[in-house]
Amino acid sequence: MVTVEDIRRAQRAEGPATILAIETATPSNCFDQSTYPDYYFRVTNSEHKTELKETFKRMCEKSNIKKRYMHLTEEILKENPNMGASMAPSLDARQDIAVVEVPKLGKEAAQKAIKEWGQPKSKITHLVFNTTSGVDMPGADYQLTKLLGLRPSVKRFMIYQQGCFAGATVLRMAKDLAENNAGARVLVVCSEISAITFRGPSESHLDILVGQVLFGDGAAAVIVGSDPVVGVERPLFQLVTAAQTLLPDSHDAINVHLREDGITIHLLKDVPGLISKHIEKSLKEAFDPLGISDWNSVFWIAHPGGPAILDQVEKKLGLKPEKLRSTRHVLSEYGNMSSACVLFILDEMRKSSAKEGLSSTGEGLDWGVLFGFGPGFTVETLVLHSVPIN
Ligand SMILES: CC(C)(COP(=O)(O)OP(=O)(O)OC[C@H]1O[C@@H](n2cnc3c(N)ncnc32)[C@H](O)[C@@H]1OP(=O)(O)O)[C@@H](O)C(=O)NCCC(=O)NCCS
Repeated sequence: MVTVEDIRRAQRAEGPATILAIETATPSNCFDQSTYPDYYFRVTNSEHKTELKETFKRMCEKSNIKKRYMHLTEEILKENPNMGASMAPSLDARQDIAVVEVPKLGKEAAQKAIKEWGQPKSKITHLVFNTTSGVDMPGADYQLTKLLGLRPSVKRFMIYQQGCFAGATVLRMAKDLAENNAGARVLVVCSEISAITFRGPSESHLDILVGQVLFGDGAAAVIVGSDPVVGVERPLFQLVTAAQTLLPDSHDAINVHLREDGITIHLLKDVPGLISKHIEKSLKEAFDPLGISDWNSVFWIAHPGGPAILDQVEKKLGLKPEKLRSTRHVLSEYGNMSSACVLFILDEMRKSSAKEGLSSTGEGLDWGVLFGFGPGFTVETLVLHSVPIN
């Protein structure tokens, strides 16, 4: 007689959730950060706001961003002038773009990830789709299922409007799905389009300007499964533990609101200070069980919300400059792509580790940490284990 316990055991996977492929995509329009202030003040008809432009220039210079990719072009803004105002009803136009472009960019990253994985897409059992860019029903998860031609029985999860930390949330979810469902292969996609947040400058909202300096578009896709098929699937990282926490007294640190005029982002100046003050507690909780207390002995993937966050974390923990190299590289080459960033950094890290002949996908180290930061104030902490590079 089969028992519930037998069934339960047979449903579970044996080994830890493992990343089996990672790929990324961006729109084709690329903006140079050094000339962006001129572009931004021209396309938003704000040339007369000379003091604001000087502040914006200073922020761009300090952003440590070289370039960003954006779907939104001058032509689109000419057709939709309210999107270039600082606050004007424009949600319909923004939604029209996001509802189409978010799944489309996600598809590009997902197709590349499926190719790297090397397995038929019919083997994908679950889809986790995350975006902060727009909302719709049926959602971007449904659109992507259709665009990719996934099985109608694929089990979908749509995560909307969580903000930057959700790049780690999706990995936490994929870990639970892969480990609790034997044979599961979870396609995880984060796709972000800044057309929903783009707006002109305003003297009364300098924090909104910070978003215009930092945000870029990008999509990333990973495939997660337990018990990789030996000789067929190639593991890249193992997802060992995952935690989420709210920082004390932090609910005003980042506020993001969906309004008639699109998404407005309000950031307190002290976000970098808040993160650096509390980050060691999350590290200790994650690594005490492993007996690790030297933060330079692990590889690092931290959501690059802005350079000030990375600088303060680095200083507070005494991290060597090379620890945040992959993180800073992604910030420099793409800007802050919200949830997609940490997945871009994972991809950058395993590729640069292979290129430099290092012994593991985690810069030659065994254990690593992945941090997601965002509204709440929420911190997601994942412990990763690298895989040897042959
Ligand atoms: C924006 C940023 C790149 C500016 O770099 P910086 O090294 O701090 O440079 P400064 O301190 O000289 O600031 C530059 C200007 O930005 C302004 N500024 C910085 N953060 C601001 C904020 N949150 N709100 C309003 N203004 C801000 C400063 O007041 C300063 O203005 P000024 O030149 O007119 O005096 C940096 O502060 C940063 O990375 N911030 C973190 C952004 C963040 O919270 N991201 C989370 C999103 S997930």
